[in-house]
Amino acid sequence: MDRSAEIKARYDRLASRYDSWGYPMEALIMRSWRRRLWAGVKGERVLEVGAGTGNNFPFYAKGSSMVAMDLSGKMLERVRRRREKEGVNADLVLMDAQSLAFRDGSFDCIVASFVFCTVPDPVRGLKEVARVLKPGGKAFFLEHMRSNSFIGRLMDLFNPLIVKFSGVNINRKTISNIEEAGMKVEWVEDLFFDIVRLIEARAVESPLSEGG
Ligand SMILES: C[S@@+](CC[C@H](N)C(=O)[O-])C[C@H]1O[C@@H](n2cnc3c(N)ncnc32)[C@H](O)[C@@H]1O
Repeated sequence: MDRSAEIKARYDRLASRYDSWGYPMEALIMRSWRRRLWAGVKGERVLEVGAGTGNNFPFYAKGSSMVAMDLSGKMLERVRRRREKEGVNADLVLMDAQSLAFRDGSFDCIVASFVFCTVPDPVRGLKEVARVLKPGGKAFFLEHMRSNSFIGRLMDLFNPLIVKFSGVNINRKTISNIEEAGMKVEWVEDLFFDIVRLIEARAVESPLSEGG
């Protein structure tokens, strides 16, 4: 099985327990992190990548046309039920972040929370984010990543084991991955040391659109 199929199968299996397992962390801290993540999100068309079971729904901008996508059909089933229950206005799409079926420059804003730790090729996924953002559009990420302190070395050491049991990478270099994907990181806020961070990035305007 390739890595994407493995991740999809893992989240398909996890979907029915995802919310109950995550509830304590959601109530304790994640909801306040999510509120901060969404504070600057605006625009006519907004995409959420890896929407999971819809934990970000309460923060969706009311006036925007929202699209929520995920790799796992079972996670999307949960999100579909939640959309009906909470009356959220969003299109739901089954898709791989590494090959987004949207035209270049389709979105004003793109949001992802705790997704790029699992996407098998994060730079490829982030390049897709950069591609489908309008020039100058913004991407907001809430992600855990490799610490720059000595803890980073421990993360490197334990990562293979953690990936084997959970599919999650704990040592992704998400900030440099975003830059490698061609976006400009404009702002970073540490939420839990330098491990859980909020990142605002901008799709770089192409030289042609700058009057050349
Ligand atoms: C840890 S969950 C986070 C869910 C949600 N964003 C949240 O904050 O609760 C990771 C999500 O990313 C999705 N995912 C992983 N790899 C993906 C990919 N290549 N394309 C799209 N979604 C992906 C998983 O199916 C899962 O729903």
